[in-house]
Amino acid sequence: MHELRKTEALIDGVWCALDRRFAVTNPATEDVIAQVSDCGVAETEQAIDAAQRAWPAWSALSSLARSDVLWRWYELVVANQSALAQLLTQEQGKPLAEALGEVLYGASYIRWFAEEARRLDGDVLSLPQSDRRGLVIRQSLGVVAAITPWNFPIAMFARKVAPALAAGCTVVLKPAAETPLSALAVAELALRAGVPKGVFNVVTGTDAPAIGQAMTSHPAVKKLTFTGSTKVGRLLLRQCADAIKRTSMELGGNAPLLVFEDADVDLAVAGTMAAKFRNAGQTCICANRILVHEAIYPRFLQALTRAVDALQQGAGEQEGVTIGPMISAAAVQTTHERVAEAVTQGAIVHRGGFVSPLGESFYPPTILLHVQPSMRVWREELFAPVLPIMTFTTDEQAIALANDTEAGLAAYVFTESRHRCWQVSEALQFGMVGVNETAISSEVIPFGGIKASGSGREGSKYGLADYTELKYICMGGLS
Ligand code: SIN
Repeated sequence: MHELRKTEALIDGVWCALDRRFAVTNPATEDVIAQVSDCGVAETEQAIDAAQRAWPAWSALSSLARSDVLWRWYELVVANQSALAQLLTQEQGKPLAEALGEVLYGASYIRWFAEEARRLDGDVLSLPQSDRRGLVIRQSLGVVAAITPWNFPIAMFARKVAPALAAGCTVVLKPAAETPLSALAVAELALRAGVPKGVFNVVTGTDAPAIGQAMTSHPAVKKLTFTGSTKVGRLLLRQCADAIKRTSMELGGNAPLLVFEDADVDLAVAGTMAAKFRNAGQTCICANRILVHEAIYPRFLQALTRAVDALQQGAGEQEGVTIGPMISAAAVQTTHERVAEAVTQGAIVHRGGFVSPLGESFYPPTILLHVQPSMRVWREELFAPVLPIMTFTTDEQAIALANDTEAGLAAYVFTESRHRCWQVSEALQFGMVGVNETAISSEVIPFGGIKASGSGREGSKYGLADYTELKYICMGGLS
């Protein structure tokens, strides 16, 4: 594990130690676990220049050669699953079982895009003129800048970097300042897998606005891919507009979870638990608003309460823990303020809702009843282990309440009716819908949202295209 514990930025194949450092803490204990190089504009520009120099040779490799490198990288990540998961839990807080799962989830993107790298195919067009033929080829974009969040430090990194490298792009990544260690460890494995110097660079740092500005203003950067808040996404989109840079934005969600009167209650409760409490509620596709038909509500609430009471909260490394801390004491504070505000507006705390004795970064699993659509706990993404519940009486009312949000990332439906499955899925204005299932993510699916949840799709057979340009070539004089 120690050889994977890197604390420097990776620029042009070299680990660069800076005098400027920032502290990384374990959210469960608030202990400082590392001091990491704090890059700014100069280091970001150096990394972009290195990526620009590395691009011609990397993009000129055969797709098979790039695929082979990605395969080796995938195998190394899997072989180091345990060490990576421990690092991830230490800096992010999630239970070790979830961290082990995230390492494999991240690796699955590397494997998928190692496979997809072989399928960068084009088309031959039959043009209206008989003496001409049209070709359509795909070419890599050039340098891609990627900014990744702290909630899935390995999976979100892999979901962006693997397709970019597979397509022949080179990358400058800025991982979240809260969780740089997992990204640096996976970067070390990329070097061991044979990713050439400059092809993949990591700039660690706390001055996100300056690093983001350096990325969006540099002419060599052809695309910015970002996962994070809608507020920051809007800012980055504006910065990219002048130079008309390509963007992929995976922004905030506010997922509704609809439980109809004909739902299998046990399945709906299991799905709600998984969708809400995974990663302590800090997931863009977390169920944020629970809508339950009033006929089934008493049974649903009883079973849900039992399941919430059975959760074991504690430090992620501890045996038996099923829910860890939040990312910081500040996140707990914001959550508690939102819950307290809802209570002053008439909500009732059914479970949780207090500041936890476990430590400043812990917030207990919380169920809020009598919630109204006007409350901030309903209107805004919570990113916390808090479940606001409302009841409904008709399908139309449930769909209208679910769609009443600027976010459009994920939604979930529980019903045993085949007809309702289709009707409701089609009526929901979200990029992804889970029917009787909330574990919807995998490398095979097009992950992404509509409306203010962003643009572009990550993973799946569609994910590689976002890192390529289509070029049309007209071949004339063929008569
Ligand atoms: C996210 O929170 O954005 C990622 C969740 C996932 O991939 O399932």
